[in-house]
Amino acid sequence: MDLLRIGIVGAQFAARLHLQNYSRWRGSKIEILTVASRTRARAEEFARRYNIPEVCDDYRRLLDRKDIDVVDLCIPTDLHHEFVIQAAQAGKHVICEKPLTGYFGKERPEDLVGFAVDRKTMFSQAMANCEVVASALKTSKVKFCYAENWIYAPPVVKLKSLIKVSQGSILDIRAEESHSGSHAAYSRRWKTSGGGALLRLGAHPVSAVLHLKHYEGMLKQGREIQVKSVTAEVGRHTAIESFKKESQKWIVSAWEDVEDWATMIMNFEDGSQAVVTASDGVLGGVRNTMMVYLSNAVVQVNINPNDTVVAYAPSPQIFGEEYITEKLETKAGWNFASPDEDWVRGYPQELEDFVDCLLTGREPASGLDLAIDTVQAIYAAYLSAEKGMRVELKKSSV
Ligand SMILES: NC(=O)c1ccc[n+]([C@@H]2O[C@H](COP(=O)([O-])OP(=O)(O)OC[C@H]3O[C@@H](n4cnc5c(N)ncnc54)[C@H](O)[C@@H]3O)[C@@H](O)[C@H]2O)c1
Repeated sequence: MDLLRIGIVGAQFAARLHLQNYSRWRGSKIEILTVASRTRARAEEFARRYNIPEVCDDYRRLLDRKDIDVVDLCIPTDLHHEFVIQAAQAGKHVICEKPLTGYFGKERPEDLVGFAVDRKTMFSQAMANCEVVASALKTSKVKFCYAENWIYAPPVVKLKSLIKVSQGSILDIRAEESHSGSHAAYSRRWKTSGGGALLRLGAHPVSAVLHLKHYEGMLKQGREIQVKSVTAEVGRHTAIESFKKESQKWIVSAWEDVEDWATMIMNFEDGSQAVVTASDGVLGGVRNTMMVYLSNAVVQVNINPNDTVVAYAPSPQIFGEEYITEKLETKAGWNFASPDEDWVRGYPQELEDFVDCLLTGREPASGLDLAIDTVQAIYAAYLSAEKGMRVELKKSSV
């Protein structure tokens, strides 16, 4: 195969990120043949904007096409596992957005499942979803690329080089993804998101932490260092009475049954620990950060904000429509203006790895194991937060 033919599923935020970052390989390594979305009008608008020759009304029709090699799933989280399974059964390679899956409680249409369902049930169903996905991919012998951009973000790649040359031990990681709340309707309720801030935002730093400890283990002992147990707390800060009374809301507060704050501690088998925080209640633009304390070095990773460009304006109008950074409330005052936010977050590098893997048959840096380990750690954290206890983990057998 020298040209990869891709069908996109979904036509909003994540799909835009992918199309923006596929652009340099279109015509040379890839062709985008079609886009499918729930609403035809939006798919048509998307196709016009990104010069995609055709719109597909139904995902299943996209799977029937012999000329499509790979489907790129940029759809709400509750659809991921079913769509991956169908794609694998149709013999298509899969690129899938984070997180891989979770618990959605479709069998309980009357419930707000985030309030009604115990976390043990959720944990086992989320892992059952992972198992079916893994089995479908194995049977079909197609490749799975897990779209976790943090693995490819240049600051994280540099961190890995520093870890390697230092030969130090990673003792303590503090990682965070936070902002002032998602734009997407699916994120408001557990049935479509599979969880709140911890799953939707925390999936990024949790995957990065897992990846780093796996990397360290491979360097030092030829096998990954696994998470042994997790503890966690979750919160609903937008349910605080004093916040509810405030007339001007600067942060998203439309959550139905999902948490808007979480912190988990990941305890690794070598005795090291990582603290991951995810919040939908943080003003000032998106925060994607990691502090890594090694035995012989300290590395601070600022994906966002970073100070490559720091700009000041006395009024928000001065910078007009110019992009500053994601989820920024005002362009007035001092701000961290991203020169190339997609690049620093690793989106083009991620898609380049996927395209090369699918063309050459090698495995991506971010694949199925990382996707499953992330679901396992996060759902164990939900269980820990519910029970107020540490939850022991086994390496997933999936
Ligand atoms: N890697 C990242 O940084 C990043 C950023 C944002 C979102 N995401 C992930 O991407 C996924 C989508 O998020 P989003 O913000 O783009 O959501 P969104 O709600 O903005 O867009 C979802 C898209 O899926 C389409 N869709 C829904 N049901 C469909 C169906 N049955 N068939 C075909 N299309 C269907 C919708 O029409 C819409 O175009 C989520 O899993 C999210 O976690 C990742």
